[in-house]
This record gives sequence, C-alpha cells and structure tokens, in this order.
Amino acid sequence: MSTLSFAAQLWRQRADTLRAGYLRRDPIARLQLRPGRQDPYAIYEQMRAAGPMLPTRFGNLATTSHHICDSVLRDRRFGVRPAGTAGRDDEFDLSFLDMNPPDHTRLRRLAQPAFSPKATAAYRERIENTVHTLLDRAGDRFDLVSAYAAPLPIAVITELLGVPDADAEEFARYGMVIGGALDGIRGLRHAARLAADEAKLRALFENLIDLRRREPADDIVSRLVAVEGDQIKPAELLPMCVLLLIAGFETTTNLIGNAVLALQRHPAWWRALCDDPVGLAPQAVEETLRYDPPVQRTSRVALEPVELGGRVIHKGQWVLTMIGGANRDPEVYARPGVFDLAREREADHLAFSSGIHYCVGQPLARLEATIALQVLAERRPGLRLAGRVRRRNATTIRGPLRLPVAG
Ligand code: HEM
Repeated sequence: MSTLSFAAQLWRQRADTLRAGYLRRDPIARLQLRPGRQDPYAIYEQMRAAGPMLPTRFGNLATTSHHICDSVLRDRRFGVRPAGTAGRDDEFDLSFLDMNPPDHTRLRRLAQPAFSPKATAAYRERIENTVHTLLDRAGDRFDLVSAYAAPLPIAVITELLGVPDADAEEFARYGMVIGGALDGIRGLRHAARLAADEAKLRALFENLIDLRRREPADDIVSRLVAVEGDQIKPAELLPMCVLLLIAGFETTTNLIGNAVLALQRHPAWWRALCDDPVGLAPQAVEETLRYDPPVQRTSRVALEPVELGGRVIHKGQWVLTMIGGANRDPEVYARPGVFDLAREREADHLAFSSGIHYCVGQPLARLEATIALQVLAERRPGLRLAGRVRRRNATTIRGPLRLPVAG
C-alpha cells in the first residue's frame, strides 16, 4: 500500500470513529475514544443494558455477557481467523496466537512446557531477586511503571528465552514497540518506526537462533531449535520467539500497575495487604485481573453458522468478546463494580481468555505480579500516589502509563 493511501485510510478510520462515537454515541467507537480510556466500564454497562449481543457498525457482534464470552471462546466452531486464510503480508505474524487448529495445537504444545506451573515455580527466586534490585534502585519517589512494573517482565522473559545479558536491552526496546502496536497503528511515523524495529528485532533473533543451533543452552530458544524441521518449520521459529517475547510485556506491566492503582484507591485493602503480604497478594492479583484486566477484549470469527444467545451468527461474522465487561457481569458476580479482596470465588474471570487460546504464560504472569505486590507491601507500606496518573492511549490494553508514587 502506498504511503498516501495508507495515510488516507488511517484518517478515514479516525474520522469514522469520531463521528460514530461522539455524534451517534456508538459504544464500540466510544471505547476507542477518551470516554473509553477514562471509564470503559460505564460503557460496558450501557452495552449490557442494550442486550447480550450488540450489532456493531461493521456488521459484527459484541458481547459483555460472561456466559456468552466464555461459550464463544470455548466453542471450536469459532476461530481466531476465518477458515482457510493465512496471515496477510501487512500483518505481524503472531504465531499460534493467531492460528486455528491443527497448527495452533502443534505449536502451542511446544511452548507450553516452559510455562507450566512446575517450570514457573522454579523462577521464583530470580523474580524475587529482580524485584528487590528494582526497589533498591528506586528512590523515595518514583514512577511505579517505568521503575518497577515494566522492567520486571522484561528481565524475566529475556532470561527464559536465553537472550544474552548484553543484548537484553535491545530486545526489550524493539519488542516493546512491536507489542505496543498490537493495539493499532497511530500514524505514519508510528508505522515507519514499527517496520524498522521489526527488522531489527528479526535480525537479533536470527543471530540468537544461529547461536543456539551451534551452542545449545538451557533456555526456550534452544529447546525450540532442537525440534526444528520436525515439529516446527524453520519459518515458524522466529514468529514464535517474537510472540513469547512480547505477549507478556505490557500485559504483566499493566497488571501490576492496575493492581497498585486499585489498592491505592482502596486504602483499607492496601493496609490489609501490608499486614499480610504473603496471604493477600495472590487475592490482590486475582481481584485485579477480574476488576480491571490488562487485556480488555479479544474476538472470534464464526467458522460455520452458529446459534447462540437466541440468534444465528453467520459464517465469517466476528464476535467481540469484551473481557472487561464480562468480568463485571452481575449475573455472575455480586457487587461486580466493587474491588473486594475477600470476594468468594464466584466464577473464573476471563482476563486470560478461555478455551484453547487460554494464556500460555498465565502461571508466570500470576507469579510475577504476586511477588511484585508482596515485596512492595513488605518494603514500602507507606506507599501513596504522588502525582497525576496517566493512562495508556490504547483500547485493547488497559493500564497506567505513568504512576508516580512516594513512600
Ligand atoms: C497479566 C498478564 C497477561 C495477560 C492479562 C494475558 C492475557 C492473554 C490473553 C487474553 C490471551 C488470549 C487471547 C485470545 O484468546 O484471543 C493470551 C494468550 C497468550 N499469552 Fe498471555 N497474558 C499475560 C501474560 C503472558 C505472559 C507472561 C506470557 C509469556 C511469556 C504470555 C503468553 C501468551 C501466549 C503465547 C498466548 C497465546 C496462547 C494461544 O494462542 O494459545 N502471556 N494472553
């Protein structure tokens, strides 16, 4: 696509969203605009009041129902891409996140062992050391996101992949730009930067893969290289490495950011956590995942006609599964808008999705966030917000971009 037509397309999309959101008060468009960034939950409630399945302006459907989201995500008659389509040239290759079975099954099986609960438990000490080092370095006033929540997942995943220390910063820099772009391309400059950084990340991984072919070590890239040609095609190796690098970056960062923000806004729960950091940190993580999930939505396309919630979904029609809305469905959760660490476990939240694409990295994400909150409460019980919180300019991903704290 030429630069000019790309620019025109971006502009048309933006104009359409503004018109739909502000003039026609279309809730899906409003989620992409300032009202959605400030409080998507109010918009989810408007959607819920209008019914369990809402037609979108592009002929698809959106749902905030926990039951319907969960059913769609688990139903094999839905996929993450239309039947028989491969990736387009202008799309990132997101490896198995963006594939239907049988390729999804084959590739996911290769990644899974590194993130099993048992494998993950072995990373505890590393995570604890990293968290302590970060807090040693942070002064009395710091930005919780850039000094604490962001460097942790980066340090952990680069080490698991076997990225040499000297290159870790570069992998992280390029990976972050690409991960951030999954929420959409904001403009021409962004698109150009993205293409350049993607090429650089690709070159870094190609070198690393070559190195591990010659000198295998005890890391994920070495294990993938060992089954190359047999269970994974050479061309599939690089996208899988990129997916594993970026899938846990902003997601885990935002989980920690959203948790600290919710705890600071509910000081009684922050004090309770400080009184019992080991006992309450896991609950603080789970309740944040329900109350303010880092990934607010995903989607599925019908691979055949499906009858659901009293209507027929046509083959090729997409369903937007609004995770953030489903997690506050009053049919499933009592007082869903209340942040409550003492909540009885009513139903699984959908923060990590459901069904065959259920987040592979969730044991790691849970462990990182739990340790991050526990150690923060132990070492900085006097923590308080100390400046204006800035939110990310994103629709799918939700979390603070800057969270100034003191204490
Ligand atoms: C709080 C942190 C995280 C959240 C909220 C999160 C959320 C999600 C969600 C919602 C999906 C499924 C998307 C869909 O169904 O369309 C997913 C898939 C995935 N996540 Fe995570 N994730 C997190 C952390 C991580 C980490 C730490 C890793 C690995 C290092 C990871 C790796 C993946 C991978 C590889 C997939 C694709 C699974 C598949 O398609 O079968 N995630 N994640």
